[in-house]
Amino acid sequence: MTAAPRTGPVGVGLIGAGMISDTYLDNLTGFPDVRVLIVGDLDPARARAQAEGHRVPRAGTAEDVLADPDVELVVNLTIPAVHAQVSAAAVAAGRNVWSEKPIAIEREGGRRLLEDAARAGLLVGIAPDTVLGPGVQTALRAIARGDIGTPLSAATTFQYPGPDLFHPNPEFLFAEGAGPLFDVGPYI
Ligand SMILES: NC(=O)c1ccc[n+]([C@@H]2O[C@H](COP(=O)([O-])OP(=O)(O)OC[C@H]3O[C@@H](n4cnc5c(N)ncnc54)[C@H](O)[C@@H]3O)[C@@H](O)[C@H]2O)c1
Repeated sequence: MTAAPRTGPVGVGLIGAGMISDTYLDNLTGFPDVRVLIVGDLDPARARAQAEGHRVPRAGTAEDVLADPDVELVVNLTIPAVHAQVSAAAVAAGRNVWSEKPIAIEREGGRRLLEDAARAGLLVGIAPDTVLGPGVQTALRAIARGDIGTPLSAATTFQYPGPDLFHPNPEFLFAEGAGPLFDVGPYI
């Protein structure tokens, strides 16, 4: 006998209440098919402030997120150096994971995470969803339809002056696991 298909919104727990969490919380709290239940952070006060600001009912630590029985999907918005560790803890707790880039800062951690998730029948998704979003997908479809004929060549440029100009706490972007390859490379 097959299990009945699940219904209702997916319960989401967010770990990492820093700068990018505002964007995630703005979006995730606007869709009916997901429900953000809890925000966790190393700094529980920061988690609480983000939860309150986005009408999320609970807040605490990463451990609190993993202990919440209604969380099916953990959204990992921590810094790159701990992505693999936080995602692995979520998988070990039986949760699906969506992680910010990069999946891990060393290949082995990323590979182990995917293998553990596959063994447990859990899903792991990794940002950036920019590439799956409307801009690039519209361009892809336009090319597939032949709107511009057969492309003969393509060029791409990704440039910006540096994260220290906009990020209030940019140290992690200059630490191990940072730099253009890890920070911008996943978009390309
Ligand atoms: N800021 C952006 O514009 C942006 C854009 C796209 C992607 N990202 C990615 O999103 C991720 C987060 O970026 P950010 O700018 O929000 O960083 P941030 O430093 O502002 O926030 C990170 C948060 O994670 C928490 N944290 C760190 N280790 C933790 C742990 N072990 N357990 C629980 N919480 C922990 C920190 O306390 C902090 O609140 C990074 O991977 C970054 O590359 C950021």
